Amino acid sequence: MSGGSFSRVGVVGLGTMGAGIAEVLARGGVRVVGVEVDAGALERGRGHLEGSTGRAVKRGRLTEDARREILGRVALSTSFADLGDCDLVIEAVPERLELKRRVFAELDRVCRDDAVLATNTSSLSVTDIAVTTGRPTKIVGVHFFNPAPVMRLVEVIRTVLTDPGAVERVAGLVKDLGKTPVTIGDRAGFVANRLLFGYLNQAAGMLESGHATRDDIDTAMKAGAGLPMGPFTLMDLIGLDTCLEVLEAIYAESRDRRHAPSPLLRELVTAGLLGRKTGRGFYSYDKAAGETEP
Ligand code: 3HC
Repeated sequence: MSGGSFSRVGVVGLGTMGAGIAEVLARGGVRVVGVEVDAGALERGRGHLEGSTGRAVKRGRLTEDARREILGRVALSTSFADLGDCDLVIEAVPERLELKRRVFAELDRVCRDDAVLATNTSSLSVTDIAVTTGRPTKIVGVHFFNPAPVMRLVEVIRTVLTDPGAVERVAGLVKDLGKTPVTIGDRAGFVANRLLFGYLNQAAGMLESGHATRDDIDTAMKAGAGLPMGPFTLMDLIGLDTCLEVLEAIYAESRDRRHAPSPLLRELVTAGLLGRKTGRGFYSYDKAAGETEP
């Protein structure tokens, strides 16, 4: 397998999503340049990659040799200049429009004129990002799902300005990586989040109203609807701050009450209880703290 018409792909931002995307690319035989803002963040990114591939070796899903090969395909750097040879760069930095615009301005400067630039945004407008660059026809959205190495769907987002050829090439890469692309227009939440987050938000509202307990809601959706995780386990996995951002973006566009963020979700985010990544969200992951329901 390889990256089809892309031979070298950059990933900017190596948090949970960026590192997961870098792993998917490297597993698919693509050479990857991973860029982070400083040495500390780069080490955390390396940790994500080593941890995830190490877990796969432990579970007998990957040989140690294959793991070494995968990690060997990923070059890590703190310099944007190292993205100069890439024919595709995927940005996966935090969901702040100003930050993404700055990253794209820099990518526009250092990348080859024919390079395609993609954003992994889950809630911002791809068009907003595209118009701040000098190459809006080469800007696409490429939205992976968490955990990226596991989830099959990748939404490929075209704006009214995107060159259809760029969209096709990116969808082709997604297929080559063994994932399933869907190609859609630039609307808040795209397809999957637009549908998923109304449901997640309603679950939070149901808990808040005392209609049912957290555990019973999670159990109902797992045992009754066949989902791999209940809504609270899933929100804790996604990160409650991300859930709030996604809901706010969708609500701003849809004005549909179902997307008006639940006050409980907002309260947890304000309190810094963001889910698994902080050790507590709807559930507590700190064994010493015991189990409490918000
Ligand atoms: N990274 C890499 N691999 C992982 C992983 C991770 N973070 N978490 C789990 N896995 C792998 C495991 O290694 C295992 O692989 P194997 O079968 O090859 O050995 C496989 O996934 C199953 O893992 P587990 O047996 O540990 O646990 P589960 O069976 O409970 O699966 C799950 C975990 C894959 C996370 C599953 O519960 C699931 O699919 N949950 C729903 C996730 C979901 O809906 N994600 C979308 C969120 S929305 C989003 O991301 C959009 C964004 O914009 C907000």
